[in-house]
Amino acid sequence: MKISSLIEQARAVRERAYAPYSRFAVGAARLSKGGLVFTGCNVENLSFGLTICAERNAIFTAIAAGEREFEAIAIVADSRSPVSPCGACRQVLAEFAPSIAICCANLQGETFEASLRDLLPRATEGILGT
Ligand code: THU
Repeated sequence: MKISSLIEQARAVRERAYAPYSRFAVGAARLSKGGLVFTGCNVENLSFGLTICAERNAIFTAIAAGEREFEAIAIVADSRSPVSPCGACRQVLAEFAPSIAICCANLQGETFEASLRDLLPRATEGILGT
């Protein structure tokens, strides 16, 4: 699957974001090794800390469907520069397939491809004795 198609699916699910507080809608699409795509949008809450990001929704949906091996994730928002995953999502990305391509994009079609090694160095080293 082309990365442009993954970005398109992230852009589409972004339309379903529930973001009445920040008004910042985000969509994410995660491609499994088996070629399936799992999407997620951010869902906010009046108790702000309960908000869940698009990336984690996409990942958790994939896990619930039994998929644990991934190729890529695309993230889309209406941001000046391509949106980057937040720190919490970086840590969750590190848990499942840390070497995948992370494609950050905005609605203008600008993209930035990053690796988790760049975004969150030494994410797991030393934890639980590793
Ligand atoms: N958000 C995401 O869903 N993903 C990101 O990569 C950045 C932030 C959400 C959380 C919150 O609902 C809104 O964007 C503003 O931070």
